Amino acid sequence: MQSYHSIGAYYIHISYELLSAHQNPGSQVFRESSAWPGSVEAESIEIENREGQKVRLKNKVAIITGAASGLGAATAKMFGEQGAKVIVTDRDADEGTAVAEEIVAAGGEALFLKLDVTSEDDWANAVAKIVSAYGTIDILVNNAGVSGSHPDKLNTDTWDVQMEVCARGPFLGMRVVIPIMQKAGIGSIVNVSSVSGLVGLPWIHMGYNAAKGAVRMATKAAAVHYTSEGIRTNSVHPGMMPAMKTAMLSGDPEARKERIARVPIQRVARCEEVAYAILFLASDEASYISGVELPVDGGWTCQ
Ligand SMILES: NC(=O)c1ccc[n+]([C@@H]2O[C@H](COP(=O)([O-])OP(=O)(O)OC[C@H]3O[C@@H](n4cnc5c(N)ncnc54)[C@H](O)[C@@H]3O)[C@@H](O)[C@H]2O)c1
Repeated sequence: MQSYHSIGAYYIHISYELLSAHQNPGSQVFRESSAWPGSVEAESIEIENREGQKVRLKNKVAIITGAASGLGAATAKMFGEQGAKVIVTDRDADEGTAVAEEIVAAGGEALFLKLDVTSEDDWANAVAKIVSAYGTIDILVNNAGVSGSHPDKLNTDTWDVQMEVCARGPFLGMRVVIPIMQKAGIGSIVNVSSVSGLVGLPWIHMGYNAAKGAVRMATKAAAVHYTSEGIRTNSVHPGMMPAMKTAMLSGDPEARKERIARVPIQRVARCEEVAYAILFLASDEASYISGVELPVDGGWTCQ
C-alpha cells in the first residue's frame, strides 16, 4: 500500500511495507560475531529491489544536503534506486522537490525538506520531521556547497561564506544527526570535500581550500570520536565535475579545457561517478572503513 502524507508545505511518499520493515528491521540484524568477538556483522541482508535486482541501501534512511542539483541530485537518485528512503534537502525548494518527485516516479521513496545548512533551526526542524516519520537516520551526506572560484583571491566575504556553508554546514549536520545515530548504534556519514581539501589550486579562493580542508579533518576527528559507537565517517574528494551553479572562474569553458588537460584521465567526472563512491562509503559494504579521504579525481592529486 502506498500513500502521500503532507509534512508542512512538502510531501512524503511512504510505502507502508517498507516503513514497517524499517521499524522492525528483520532484514538487517546486526549482532556480535561469534567468529570474531567484539566485531559486529550483518546477520542477514535482503538485497533485492522489486525487479529482483540487488539493492545496496535497503530501508536505510538517508538525508542528503544540497540535493537539488549536481552531485547531490545524482546521489539522491542513486540512493533511491538502491532502496533507501531518501530525504532530499536543499535551500532551493523548487529544484529539490523536482528531484524527490523524480525518485518517487522511478519507484523509489523520497521526501523533500527545505534546509539551509547554515541554519541551526532548519537542521533541528528537518531532523525532527525525519525521526517522526521514520524513527531514525542511517546515513548523512553533507554535500551542499558554494563555488570557491572567486576572481578576487583576497575577498573577505568569500572566506566567510565558504567557512559558513562548506565547513560549518557539515558540522551542524553532524551535530544534530550523530545523537540519533548513537541511539541506534549504527550510522554512516559521508562528507563531500574536494581536491581543494587536499591541495591548493591557482583559480580557487583560499577560503574554499580552508573550508574543504576543515571538512577533511572534521571527518577524521568524528571517526576517532564515534566509530566505536557504530558511526563511520568518511570524506569524498571530487576532482573536476560539471561546473557548480555558483561557479565563477571554474565555469569558464576555455579555462576548463586547459585544466582538463592537466588531469591524467583527461576529462571531467560525471556526477554519477562520484555518487558511486558516496554510495559505497554510505553502505554496509564499507563496514570496516572509517576516517578515510577518498579522492575521486581521475588521478589529479597523485601527480
Ligand atoms: N563541481 C565540481 O567541480 C566540484 C568539485 C569538487 C567538489 N565539489 C563539491 O561537491 C559538492 C556538490 O557540488 P555540485 O558540483 O553538485 O554543485 P551545485 O552547485 O550543482 O550543487 C550544490 C547544491 O548545494 C545547494 N546549496 C548551496 N548552499 C546551500 C546552503 N547554504 N544550504 C543548502 N543548500 C545549499 C545549492 O542550492 C545546490 O543545489 C559541493 O560540496 C562542492 O563543493 C564540486
